[in-house]
Amino acid sequence: MLHPITQKIVHLFEIHGNSMYGGEAVTQLEHGLQCATLARANGASDELITASLLHDVGHLLHDLPDNASDSGIDDLHELRGERFLAEYFKKSVVEPVKLHVQAKRYLCAKEPGYYETLSTPSKTSLEIQGGIMNLEEVAEFEKNEYYRDAIDLRKWDDMAKDANLVTPLLDSFISSIEASVK
Ligand SMILES: [Fe+2]
Repeated sequence: MLHPITQKIVHLFEIHGNSMYGGEAVTQLEHGLQCATLARANGASDELITASLLHDVGHLLHDLPDNASDSGIDDLHELRGERFLAEYFKKSVVEPVKLHVQAKRYLCAKEPGYYETLSTPSKTSLEIQGGIMNLEEVAEFEKNEYYRDAIDLRKWDDMAKDANLVTPLLDSFISSIEASVK
């Protein structure tokens, strides 16, 4: 018998997973699966694989249009995701999800050339998410125990927009989800 939160997540992907991932070439489900597949291929823990799969769960919990950021709306999906996940999952899942948008702002400040690698929708949303971090924000970000996990997640997130990447099905990640429940 699956944990109720696992059943809920499967249900959310069934209901909302086929909507497009804001201006990208993949659906929400494909995006999550690609991100989790990259995490697994890089030897990530069950918790970080789960965080990768669910980092955009906040997009599945509201009815704003898929391209809300085009209209200058920050849907704050990382905070909605954090609230949803915190009730059931370990901190090692919740924190990287909470930080994955900040991680983009951080990498723009810290890694030369990173900004250029971002997709157009991701560059657009950067501005309404606060733009490139300043030095104080960088220092604050590095205080979080899970900031390195958030950076790894962010890099997989950026790559997980490939219309041609074939991944395992959601079923294959159920055991990681169950292992990440607190
Ligand atoms: Fe994402």
